[in-house]
Amino acid sequence: MTNDNAELTNLQQQQRTRRQIEEGIAGAFAPEDEGLRNALTSARAAGLPEIQISPIQGKLLQVLAAACNARSILEIGALGGYSGIWLARALPAGGRLITLEISPEHAAVVRNSFEKAGVSDRTEVRVGRALDLLPHLGSDAPFDLVFIDADKPPYPQYLEWALRLTRPGSIIVADNCIRSGKAFLPPQDDVMAGVVEFNRRIASDPRLASLLLAMDEDYTDGFAIAVVKY
Ligand code: DHB
Ligand code: MG
Repeated sequence: MTNDNAELTNLQQQQRTRRQIEEGIAGAFAPEDEGLRNALTSARAAGLPEIQISPIQGKLLQVLAAACNARSILEIGALGGYSGIWLARALPAGGRLITLEISPEHAAVVRNSFEKAGVSDRTEVRVGRALDLLPHLGSDAPFDLVFIDADKPPYPQYLEWALRLTRPGSIIVADNCIRSGKAFLPPQDDVMAGVVEFNRRIASDPRLASLLLAMDEDYTDGFAIAVVKY
């Protein structure tokens, strides 16, 4: 009993430490402004699921955008526009973010939040199934950065399109590629089948230098990051 309590206290202490580190990094490197906070409250008010990336993940996207000198970014899956704001703000003057969103209702929220965040001039929200929209992006390619954060079963196809629409030196990022470690077990449903196959491809494609990074607040999910080498 005493032992159990001691272990629980240890675990709680670890979680508290992790949260303090997370808040320290976010506070110093990834503070949210009114535009980002509005995107969150608007998405919540519209009933969207609260599954957007963290501020630290948003800042990582900006760092990666800087690393590949991104002027042209493609996002697959806009949700409420929170990640789109981080991405759009990484663009230089004249840069462009195209974000694909299947839900017209969500897209309206996204456009509104982009407007309030002051990034409407450099963003375009296209509405439809990503697999229907992606074949029409040829004239907008190559993209310097592609961020995949949509429905999981087609993740392998999204990777294929990302490879088609990028250039050597481009960076491909995908959210939710760890899933509490389920990504390393035989898949039990089509969601995990998509993620597992995506990871297999992104890890083994000779054109890519890639890695999974566990980076959500409890270390159970995170980004796959890949640089296109050739
Ligand atoms: C889910 C999807 C996401 O993109 C995410 O970041 C978290 C959860 C989901 O579909 O459950
Ligand atoms: Mg996600």
